[in-house]
Amino acid sequence: MNILLLGSGGREHALAKSLCESPKNKKIFCAPGNPGIEDFAELINVNINNNEEVLDVCISKKIELVVIGPEVPLVNGLADFLNKNNILVFGPRKIAAQLEGSKKFTKQICKKYNIPTAEFETFKDESSALKYLQKQVFPIVIKADGLAAGKGVIIAENYKDAENAVKEIFSGLFKDAGKEIVIEEFLVGEEISYFIIADENNFIELTSAQDHKRIGEGDTGPNTGGMGAYSPAPLMNDELKELTIDKIIKPTLRAMKELGCPYTGILYAGLMITNEGPKLIEYNVRFGDPECQVILPRLKSDLLSLIISSCQNSLIEENIEWDTRFALTIVMASEGYPNDYKTGYEIKGINEIKNLKDIYIYHAGTKRVNNLIFTNGGRVLNITSLGETVKEANYNALNAINMIDWNGSYHRNDIGWRAIKREENG
Ligand code: AMP
Ligand code: GLY
Repeated sequence: MNILLLGSGGREHALAKSLCESPKNKKIFCAPGNPGIEDFAELINVNINNNEEVLDVCISKKIELVVIGPEVPLVNGLADFLNKNNILVFGPRKIAAQLEGSKKFTKQICKKYNIPTAEFETFKDESSALKYLQKQVFPIVIKADGLAAGKGVIIAENYKDAENAVKEIFSGLFKDAGKEIVIEEFLVGEEISYFIIADENNFIELTSAQDHKRIGEGDTGPNTGGMGAYSPAPLMNDELKELTIDKIIKPTLRAMKELGCPYTGILYAGLMITNEGPKLIEYNVRFGDPECQVILPRLKSDLLSLIISSCQNSLIEENIEWDTRFALTIVMASEGYPNDYKTGYEIKGINEIKNLKDIYIYHAGTKRVNNLIFTNGGRVLNITSLGETVKEANYNALNAINMIDWNGSYHRNDIGWRAIKREENG
């Protein structure tokens, strides 16, 4: 079977490795990929946000299955487009991908199906949004409706900040993604990511993770694409899992069926664990990055078999096995990220740690020149380690990081701190 994997980050490196380890007979292509993925797949240079270009590659390489890493091609309807050409696609069709592509769409489903989430209103114009804000309590959360590369959420501490946010969004801060906005209640609690895999009829629970979005130690400073993550999240006990499945996941899957577009692929629920139980913050229609880099190293079952079952509606026959240890990943970034940073520095030490037991190194912003690896982005590498405890996994990952070096690398030392604190307090 010829497989085309789309994407170029640490998530896709982890996916490429797991696909390659499958006992099923396959050849993997990846577009556009990165130097780490080259160990597992033949790289192809193609614009993955152009459906026609992707179809051309599928035809010329005789691709039978496309695995989509990031959200944009899914929201662009790539799955529908390729399905029409008899190519299997792992991931939801366009309407179902609206669960990530439109915050308003998701909130309306929450309202209709009684799914616990923050109280909200949606607005198409500035003056009605501002009028509404005058009667609200702060902080409050203002969100662009559409995809904004993870930047479309503004937490406003007071009326003035909220007013500025609304004005900026309606002036085009997030382009078309901000044509409509959602204003919602600020939820207090701890965040957890929860993942399931679905076919048209069934779903299987995968696992939980927590990521650290802020640049600074103690979760301070500006938001980033993610500075590290760990899985499973010890906070996610059986009771919380049951509530999440019964009150959030199942009604959502039912809603998509009733809309005539059953959800298929990975569904990632971003949850806030509040005093009233888990509430949905948002859905993503794909694996998280860097959550994927801590989920797949724990997966003992064959990822490719799960993916094919999701595409062919045979998930019911699958059984999932996990490594019982914790996985933790630390992102190594370019100094200055998420603001301005320099690239083009040679990275030393990668080969030395590549074969260490229970250490996984995933490339993101790197490039290869004459067999040397250079930095080429804000988030450069992900170093994942396994451990009996979160603390041990963090310790092992930091030890590996100490063997890697480039001019101006930055990472957080405290990934997993909440779970480590709980471990220390027994
Ligand atoms: P998103 O871009 O939708 O992942 O949101 C980014 C982050 O904003 C989330 O991970 C939360 O930390 C925060 N956030 C979003 N909505 C809320 C909310 N209603 N209450 C509190 N924090 C929120
Ligand atoms: N780690 C957050 C995301 O992938 O959206």
